[in-house]
Amino acid sequence: MERFAKLAAQALAPHLHELYPTFSAADLEVPPDPKLGDLAFPCFKLAKQARLSPPALAQKLAAECQAAGGLPAEITVAPVGPYVNFTVAPTAVARSILGDILTDGSADGGLGHYGRVTPETRGTWVLEFGSPNVAKPLNIYHLRSTALGATLDRIGRYRGWKVRSINHLGDWGKQYGMLTVAFKRFGKTVQDDLSMLELVDLYVKINAEASAESAESVKAGGPKEPPGGIQDQAREAFLKLEKGDPEVTALWRKCLDVSLREFNRIYDRLGVKFDHIWGESYYQSQLAPLLADLRKRNLLVESEGAWVVPVTDEKGREIPPCILEKSDGATIYATRDVAAAIYRYQQFKFDRMTYIVGGEQKLHFQQVFAVLRKMGLPWIDRCEHVPYGLYRFKDAKMSTRKGNFVTLEEVLELAKQRVTELMSARAETSRAEAATAQAEASASGRTLEPREIFEPTPAVTEAVAVGALVFYDLHSDPSRDIEFDLDRVVDFEGETGPYLQYAHTRCVSMLRKAPTEVTALMRGPVMGARLVAPQEIALLKLLGQFPMQLERTLANAKASHLAHYLIDVTQAFGSFYRECRVLTEDRELSAARLQLVEGTRRVMARGLSLLGIPLPERM
Ligand code: ARG
Repeated sequence: MERFAKLAAQALAPHLHELYPTFSAADLEVPPDPKLGDLAFPCFKLAKQARLSPPALAQKLAAECQAAGGLPAEITVAPVGPYVNFTVAPTAVARSILGDILTDGSADGGLGHYGRVTPETRGTWVLEFGSPNVAKPLNIYHLRSTALGATLDRIGRYRGWKVRSINHLGDWGKQYGMLTVAFKRFGKTVQDDLSMLELVDLYVKINAEASAESAESVKAGGPKEPPGGIQDQAREAFLKLEKGDPEVTALWRKCLDVSLREFNRIYDRLGVKFDHIWGESYYQSQLAPLLADLRKRNLLVESEGAWVVPVTDEKGREIPPCILEKSDGATIYATRDVAAAIYRYQQFKFDRMTYIVGGEQKLHFQQVFAVLRKMGLPWIDRCEHVPYGLYRFKDAKMSTRKGNFVTLEEVLELAKQRVTELMSARAETSRAEAATAQAEASASGRTLEPREIFEPTPAVTEAVAVGALVFYDLHSDPSRDIEFDLDRVVDFEGETGPYLQYAHTRCVSMLRKAPTEVTALMRGPVMGARLVAPQEIALLKLLGQFPMQLERTLANAKASHLAHYLIDVTQAFGSFYRECRVLTEDRELSAARLQLVEGTRRVMARGLSLLGIPLPERM
């Protein structure tokens, strides 16, 4: 469809020239209802400029485009309300799309390269995602940034971007001073073999002691933070850390090591990788020069003992100033973000930088971006914060737990348990059905092929559980909160990961079971011209949208586009499967249909892999 979009855009461009000189194929949309055509150009934005109503402009453009005769015969143009719509003739669709999908069949383990753009031909994209805080387990909320970031990373690379992914670990700040105080107080050393839970436990215990100490001091008429007390010791330890004190640094590194080991275990399960793990600490040596620079440029203002940069939002409205140096001389989270952005630009000269971070940090990024803008750095316009909503739990047990203390690992385990139950129950039902069928057959003297019954293995239940969670997260609109309900997440019949994984295994099994002669024909020349049924054309057109859907996903930084598209493909495949028998008397027709199954398999497999959803061969 990308190819047709280019042809349609070429024909329309001369008529748009004055209104919209930069018009290109990327401005064409896919209409929600295929009855409205295959590609559409919306006229809302340009109508005012043209002093026409959107439908009138659409009519004028369509008529001009038609009259100029620049369209190839297989594409027709018509105004539909405020849109200029293009429709591609079914035979052209069938021939060209199936051909595109089925080339390079042996590449990438039989997946081909459909929709791929030559690697690293499109500019550099810095993607920051994941970014958990050290010494705390990953919680379910972290799945949002991690799953979306990893998806954009994979799609970006597939579509020709030079992606550089960064995990901006929260590994710096007074809380690490607090932890080192806890190490000493509770007799732990760098040599101890600690787990994440023990780290959390240390942190909780030291905070409890600090609160008790504070309460006692207040009761005795003293200050909230008694001099020389735990808070003071933590501050002092952090200052030592900032100065590179070897003992405190060793304890801090210990926390980092323990945390990374645990993070990596989960990242491995999710198939997530980073080019760079550059936590906040990474920028430590750049903070003093940054502050000096800001001072030199007269951007820093003193406010209640701290140094801040007064800032406004994108619309020029005043927002709280960005604090960069606290009154005790310590730097903060925002200081490190300003330094990190500058460093990343120096390293990569990026064309786009995307921060995938929760919506609660909107103000933070407005402030950081505003400081960079005030510094006169032109590339700030290439930076964006992509926010997302929270997780909410229907399950009362989970929703009452404090903080974000539902760990990702425990949700994974719960999902795995549920998937195992569901799959075992399914196997049980199949076995019972098969036994009944056997009994009936032998009663009437027939013989029956034994039915294949799939018994779930741990590898498959893991793949299905991961697929279910990741898909559920990604298909939800990132700007909204997610209602987490495990039954819906793993529902094999709903619009879920397992449903898509299952559709993929169905393609695989149809291909596996086809007779050898048909398979041989299927591997030969593309026979798109044999596909004429409406369900076949509808499915083909949908498969043809794949590259454009990937682009849309990248442009809006929304994996939900690709996720919903794959649901549409699955549903179109379902109606094709119901209405058109693949194996018929007509061997050629069977082979052509099998080619469509193979095309569907490739798009599903590629699409699911780009979302980070594992592909079991059977389930
Ligand atoms: N560590 C932070 C947190 O867990 C998120 C970091 C986001 N990235 C950034 N560049 N500030 O809240």
